[in-house]
Amino acid sequence: MELLERGAVIPDPLIPYLEVDRSKPRHECWVTGHMVAGLDGTAAIGGRVGALSTRPDQALFRRMRQIADVVLVGAETVRREGYSPIQLSAPAQTQRRVRGQSPNPPVAVVSRSLEFDWSAKIFSRAPAETRTIIVTCETADPERLAAAQHVAEIVVAGHDRVEPAAAMTALADLGHGVVLCEGGPRWLGELVAADRLDELCLSVSPLMGGDPLPVSVTPSGAGVARFGLKGTLVEDDTVFLRYEVAPPEGPRHE
Ligand SMILES: NC(=O)c1ccc[n+]([C@@H]2O[C@H](COP(=O)([O-])OP(=O)(O)OC[C@H]3O[C@@H](n4cnc5c(N)ncnc54)[C@H](OP(=O)(O)O)[C@@H]3O)[C@@H](O)[C@H]2O)c1
Repeated sequence: MELLERGAVIPDPLIPYLEVDRSKPRHECWVTGHMVAGLDGTAAIGGRVGALSTRPDQALFRRMRQIADVVLVGAETVRREGYSPIQLSAPAQTQRRVRGQSPNPPVAVVSRSLEFDWSAKIFSRAPAETRTIIVTCETADPERLAAAQHVAEIVVAGHDRVEPAAAMTALADLGHGVVLCEGGPRWLGELVAADRLDELCLSVSPLMGGDPLPVSVTPSGAGVARFGLKGTLVEDDTVFLRYEVAPPEGPRHE
């Protein structure tokens, strides 16, 4: 066992995340999850993430979007959190242009029901070059789909549900090689179950007692995914863990 000692200050907490090589994904594209949990694993307080997120977590959450070609979220998170189009700082936008990326990543929302207020900012305020993407399935309601097409790009990935692998293929085909998934727990769990989560950036917030909702809700019957610890940061009482999925285990010899 090793002791992790505090004190080695880094000039910019985003640097360790920007330095990760995400150019060689195991599957269609590289998928990074970015979540915050309480000490008891809770993912929300009163149905929202706000009270769970500390000041350093909020700062990193906003800036982490710089790594993304697209920011992917489940519909319930968009409905509850009131998402807006991503607006990075001017220096971050410049760095992205230099790397050949759009100044801001678009948001992609996963939904079967398509129950949205289409006048919401996430649709109405998205710039033409980074329109919000709706990832849905073939059995989605045709009238709602028609309404969605006026305000969003549509990706169909699956018959009666969005299949994570098909969704990642579609996003990769749109040129989105790095997908940043900001939850929620149910959609993240689908990605984990489909072996599509390559990296998890988990902030541990110093509190307990939120909603009985863990950061990932894996569908029943799915196997266990294993990860290796790649980085730790700390600011005040918030710990930032960076994990990457572990290579598959070989046969065990007793
Ligand atoms: N701690 C954190 O970092 C964090 C991050 C994000 C959110 N949250 C919290 O988590 C809660 C929301 O998360 P959640 O887990 O309930 O919901 P969610 O994962 O955000 O969204 C679930 C919805 O996504 C759509 N969806 C998911 N899988 C699908 C599939 N395979 N095919 C088609 N559609 C699919 C469905 O939308 P339709 O119903 O439209 O069909 C489903 O109802 C909120 O309280 C939020 O504050 C916490």
